[in-house]
Amino acid sequence: MYNRNDKLTMLMGSIGLILVLAFGNVHEGLSQDVVNAYENVQLEEKMASKEAIQAFAYMDKPLAIQDIKVPREQLTLAAGSRYALEVTGLIDWDKQIDLTAHPDMMYTSSDENLAVVKNGHITILGTGITGDQVIITCTYQNISQDIHIRVKQSLADTVIVDKEGRSIITNYEAVDALVNKERGLPSDYVPSDLVEPDVPFSFSGDDEKRNMRKEAAIALEKMFDAAKEESLHLAAASGYRSYYRQKCLHHYKINQDGNKATQRISAEPGYSEHQTGLAMDITCRSVGLKLKEKFGQEPEGIWVEENAHRFGFIIRYPQDMEGVTGYKYEPWHLRYLGENLAKLVYDSGLTYEEFLETY
Ligand code: DAL
Ligand code: ZN
Repeated sequence: MYNRNDKLTMLMGSIGLILVLAFGNVHEGLSQDVVNAYENVQLEEKMASKEAIQAFAYMDKPLAIQDIKVPREQLTLAAGSRYALEVTGLIDWDKQIDLTAHPDMMYTSSDENLAVVKNGHITILGTGITGDQVIITCTYQNISQDIHIRVKQSLADTVIVDKEGRSIITNYEAVDALVNKERGLPSDYVPSDLVEPDVPFSFSGDDEKRNMRKEAAIALEKMFDAAKEESLHLAAASGYRSYYRQKCLHHYKINQDGNKATQRISAEPGYSEHQTGLAMDITCRSVGLKLKEKFGQEPEGIWVEENAHRFGFIIRYPQDMEGVTGYKYEPWHLRYLGENLAKLVYDSGLTYEEFLETY
């Protein structure tokens, strides 16, 4: 026969066995009651591990969430990139749970054409341009947290070295593509949407250099019209240049002025912004419709310097910045970036290279 103490020991042992069986591994599909019981014990003791609480997150009953948090409320992401979301819920007793994939967690994008949320990731569409902004709102029940995203092209991820050892950009169709002495274009790249802007030209006759990409051509027309309203008459001198044309021009200049002087004013074939179809050299009558530094001091040149950004253009090679841009001052060389980005660059007072480094 068992005495009272033996019976008590057996009873305790059985309870222990049941507890071990029931709560041995809360993560392996135990019933909700068991999970509940487990969590109550843990939470009362305020000792629950993140994993244990995580199980709690996926039960049917609503969670008593006080607030939700993300690791960073401001992000800069590259066009075409993906960012793994992480959303944490704060619960009453000062504990956190991972809400990222909770079925009640809602994600909305302020611009679905720029960023979407899928499978726990924010994806920035490849069409995103440096300077674009989008907000992802993470909502659990009636609690929201915004993530403010700035888009910026990744300089490192948009360049490859080809068989000849040339650094060639991969985002050559993007309106914000950075082209300079270190970032060339594929030699066979020809923009697909070249059109002739309806503006006065400094020369007559048909020529490929009349063209620009459509968006840039429309912006140029608007800028010329606005200047004209202030009685300033601009003339377009040189827009799109093929690789072959740049090669001829560059070699002609080397023969004329020597290599050193040429490299300061003329890009090697494949390295000219003119091949993007997003650049236009402009001039006016008072400088003989030529490309001269003096253009920068003429009323037309001053107006362009102060207003081009309103139409999406920047003066790409400002005065005294040869050390950064690689080229001498060219007050006539306009580069289209779109209104938003051109304004950001203009307001920064920086060259495009410097802007992209610091934005
Ligand atoms: N003059 C500019 C730098 C070009 O050749 O593209
Ligand atoms: Zn130019």
